Amino acid sequence: MSSIVFEGITKRFGDAVAVDDLSLEVRDGEFLVLLGPSGCGKTTALRMIAGLDAPSAGSIRIGDRVVDDLEPAERNISMVFQSYALYPHMTVARNIESPMLARKVAAPDGTVRKLTKAERSQRIAEAAAGLGLEDLLDRKPAALSGGQRQRVALARAIVGRPEAFLMDEPLSNLDAKLRVATRAELVRLHERLGTTIVYVTHDQVEAMTMADRVALLDAGRLQQVGTPQEVYDRPANRFVAQFLGSPPMNVLRLDGRPGWTGVRPEHVELAPAGAPGALAEGVVGATEWLGHERHVHVEVAGQPVIVREPVDAPVRAPGGAVALLVVPEHLHGFDDDTGARIT
Ligand SMILES: Nc1ncnc2c1ncn2[C@@H]1O[C@H](COP(=O)(O)OP(=O)(O)OP(=O)(O)O)[C@@H](O)[C@H]1O
Ligand SMILES: [Mg+2]
Repeated sequence: MSSIVFEGITKRFGDAVAVDDLSLEVRDGEFLVLLGPSGCGKTTALRMIAGLDAPSAGSIRIGDRVVDDLEPAERNISMVFQSYALYPHMTVARNIESPMLARKVAAPDGTVRKLTKAERSQRIAEAAAGLGLEDLLDRKPAALSGGQRQRVALARAIVGRPEAFLMDEPLSNLDAKLRVATRAELVRLHERLGTTIVYVTHDQVEAMTMADRVALLDAGRLQQVGTPQEVYDRPANRFVAQFLGSPPMNVLRLDGRPGWTGVRPEHVELAPAGAPGALAEGVVGATEWLGHERHVHVEVAGQPVIVREPVDAPVRAPGGAVALLVVPEHLHGFDDDTGARIT
């Protein structure tokens, strides 16, 4: 187990800056999610930890070692990709064994040796038991479901006993139901192993449900780091505010309030037009029914606002005038130019 530290890391591809002066500490044993839209630099950041890409500037530490000059194999970390890249001609057991064949372990006296067959078999059995793969060890990948393949890839990552796991959208090939199940499995795995995990996704729900802390990136730049609750409740800027939440935070201009005003859909209460103390007034548009809640679209001074309502709230007729009530502590302010939070 180890912490991972980015110190002023920049990565350029030609003129393009993929990662821009990133400083971030992933704590020892932490499950940290790197979250951001497509192209924001998540995979590049991960590849630099693994040693697959070299930073253009800055330094990376894993544990107490500066790893800038170490080969990938010397970094003692394991990477799980979106495409599981299992060997199709090998059984599950041989796939799990494969990274151990080249692996060397140091004895207390400093000598280095390969793992014995018995040691490898023991690790395969342990990993298979932990991930429910015991009955599949003799199958080949083609005879597995997507979720099973995903677990084989995880087992293969575990057996090397790395200091840290790097995971790049490992659930994106799974259907929605399996993704939810595997999410929970990964969280349990992390609790059991306690190994540092850096997990990359563009899916905010994955980030919110799995992370100890979330680091949000946009255009190669770190926007905010915090627990899921912190980044949701106190977004550092407009980007974070609108990247998190489904539907995302409403951000609009209002007469009498400086900059941009943000309010989450669940924090708006609709009342009859003219209600005292309203933040604004608007006109009801379409309503979306989701079974457990409703999303009511309201136009406020030409700007769209979504309001989340319980299904037993009165039905809002399209075209009707409404007042929007928001308690002050649920209002967010963002700077006109920079989009930074105004407190
Ligand atoms: N080998 C490369 N050569 C040139 N540009 C690259 C290379 N790899 C990545 N980039 C660029 O760097 C930026 C960041 O790419 P990266 O793959 O890290 O994004 P990402 O956040 O992982 O996106 P996604 O969610 O789509 O996987 C993108 O603009 C991408 O086009
Ligand atoms: Mg990527």
